[in-house]
Amino acid sequence: MSHKPVFILGIESSCDDTSAAVSRDSVILSNVTAGQEIHRLYGGVVPELASRAHQQNIVPVVDAALHKAGIGIAELDGIAFTRGPGLMGSLLVGISFAKAVALARNIPLMEVNHMQAHILAHFIEEEGRENPSFPMLCLTVSGGHTQLVVLRSMFDLEVIGETTDDAAGEAFDKAAKILGLPYPGGPLIDKHAQTGNPGAFPFPHPKVAGLDFSFSGFKTSILYFIQNQEKKDPGFVHDHLADLCASIQANIVSILLDKLEAASIQTGIRTIAIAGGVSANSGLRKSLAQRAAVLGWKVFIPKFEYCTDNAAMIAVTGYHKFLKGEFAPQSISPAARYQIAPRS
Ligand code: KG4
Ligand code: ZN
Repeated sequence: MSHKPVFILGIESSCDDTSAAVSRDSVILSNVTAGQEIHRLYGGVVPELASRAHQQNIVPVVDAALHKAGIGIAELDGIAFTRGPGLMGSLLVGISFAKAVALARNIPLMEVNHMQAHILAHFIEEEGRENPSFPMLCLTVSGGHTQLVVLRSMFDLEVIGETTDDAAGEAFDKAAKILGLPYPGGPLIDKHAQTGNPGAFPFPHPKVAGLDFSFSGFKTSILYFIQNQEKKDPGFVHDHLADLCASIQANIVSILLDKLEAASIQTGIRTIAIAGGVSANSGLRKSLAQRAAVLGWKVFIPKFEYCTDNAAMIAVTGYHKFLKGEFAPQSISPAARYQIAPRS
């Protein structure tokens, strides 16, 4: 039996990327993102500037996504948007736009949790890629979050571990800042680490009970180590940049994977996924694949374009809400601190 395909427009505007995507059922037809270079000047995202840039970008980005997908706005069956977590002023731009389209076209509106969408990006249909089965265990690692999430179905989630201070992406970005690298430093640490020795500078592993994480002590230890070395040799960072990046990356990756392994043992789940911006990290991807081979895990690593913020993941999550008939009212407001699920 053939069915009429469902076209969804997804909108993502939680932080500093304005993104729009069009899906046909679980297939992504287009995924267009405009980044915001302006924040580099300030060493971090400036909320006011982000909101203004979203306002400038949203119409051209949506236009490009529809054009690339080869469909008109009249063919859309629904519109999905990021409700949170994120920056209030940024979220407001996406949500207002989505509401206006839904009202004008008289189509349903689906609200999406950004972190859940990072995980559900694994359910984007692509040739040669299989969907994960349930139960699955996902390590979500982004600029604002680090969590271990058990999924019993697409919409039955449980958080079994999380960071008590900084997120993994923040640890990368703050370490990069100490090394004098521009924001966001995560991808630059990854780049320099390629030619460095991960065992050159052994940084301490935090001792955190259970399945929780902590990265703030690690950041402080890097700061003191660099300050001490630079006192003796002002060219230290410059001369050892690759080794420093490789050692920092190896440390963050092993902190993450040790907890993931503990979570797998505790839950007995061996269908393992990673999601979020830091899942683009080549060291994490490589080490995860190595551990999976040893431990007999079935692993799911997102395609690069679906690791960092994108609207494809919003569209596909919205599609599954559309199928369930879970629609948001016009009165819905953003949720800057939107929890993905209750903490067990
Ligand atoms: O998911 P995301 O794009 O935005 C949030 O929802 O926060 O994640 C952004 C984070 C930043 O901290 C960035 O430095 C980090 O992901 N990131 C990386 C890499 N690519 C992005 N960290 C390490 N290695 C990478 N290749
Ligand atoms: Zn994100």
